[in-house]
Amino acid sequence: MVSSSEEFMRQEMREVYSETVVDQALRPRNLGEMEDADGFGRVTGPCGDTMEMWLKVEGNAVVAATFATDGCGPTVACGSLLTELVRGKAIPQALGISQQDVLDALGGLPEAHAHCALLAVSTLKEAIRDYLAFKKEPWKKAYRTHRRGS
Ligand code: FES
Repeated sequence: MVSSSEEFMRQEMREVYSETVVDQALRPRNLGEMEDADGFGRVTGPCGDTMEMWLKVEGNAVVAATFATDGCGPTVACGSLLTELVRGKAIPQALGISQQDVLDALGGLPEAHAHCALLAVSTLKEAIRDYLAFKKEPWKKAYRTHRRGS
């Protein structure tokens, strides 16, 4: 059920953002830390906002992704959408997801926020790099207990 204040916020945001951006920003999917993730990425963009992303990988495909960010609404929308976009993708395909793919899937973002999509994609790539490094040297995973904010 949508409250009247949320509906008001949605209407205000719709003047600038697509319906998909509004929906993903106000009701983010896959938000929060993942227990026992196979890959973790943390990137701070030039604007000072940070995103974190956790991946669960099975059989060389991403089966789940979650995210967290201290960034703006469009950044939340980008992280949320990307966690949905990447699910089910094989690692090479996941690595191939671009800033433009995220922007297209969101129905675009104002130019001033196009970099929010880049932050999300960079964080995903970092999490995949982390997964690949642990795959090569699995013993290292035993040392990773809680890396959020590290
Ligand atoms: Fe910095 Fe969105 S304003 S990532």
